[in-house]
Amino acid sequence: MYGLINKAVEGLIRSKFGDEVWHRIRSRAGVPDEPFITSQPYDDAVTYGLVAAASEETGIPVDDLCEAYGRYWNSVYTEEAGYGPLLHGAGRTLPELLRNLNHLHTRVKISYSQLNPPGFTVTDETPRSLNLHYYSDRPGIAPLLTGLLKGLGDHFSLVIDVTRTRVETPAPHDVFHLTWKPREQAPSS
Ligand code: HEM
Repeated sequence: MYGLINKAVEGLIRSKFGDEVWHRIRSRAGVPDEPFITSQPYDDAVTYGLVAAASEETGIPVDDLCEAYGRYWNSVYTEEAGYGPLLHGAGRTLPELLRNLNHLHTRVKISYSQLNPPGFTVTDETPRSLNLHYYSDRPGIAPLLTGLLKGLGDHFSLVIDVTRTRVETPAPHDVFHLTWKPREQAPSS
């Protein structure tokens, strides 16, 4: 995956566990002590290795780390890395953004020509729910999407409930069933 993604993994680990733990994880994963280059494609093994090493160092299961990464990506990193406008431009509402995810990644591909993005389709839409179908070549990272979707709840001020099911047709993929409601405003004193 692109350095952009590995940088966000590093950012998450440093912010949650500190610099020393980051260096232990990096070294356990055999990653050199050099900054990731945002626009350089890295072997997926680098990202998988970092997440596995982070799980071993912290005792947090890989699925939970993937979900935390998804939340971090949307709620913190997208803005910091300057991708806020791209995200805002892709949809003014949650369903609009989800219907535009393929288009959003096609736009990312203009800058990152070797991008291998997942594919998405939206079905069964109602005013408060939908199914998001997720097609990816990368095994084991579906919990990342759960975190990304919950992070979008922060972005749109919604409480989003997500359940995931594996289906085998028309091709094996994960289906995320989403329901949402507006976040309650804290009463003003
Ligand atoms: C402006 C915002 C975004 C940018 C710049 C972006 C960029 C990227 C990049 C660079 C990758 C790595 C792919 C590769 O290196 O081959 C990726 C993967 C991914 N993106 Fe996005 N993305 C954005 C928003 C989103 C959103 C909002 C979602 C879903 C809610 C999403 C879902 C995913 C998933 C699940 C992957 C994992 C790759 C896989 O399954 O193969 N992205 N994205």
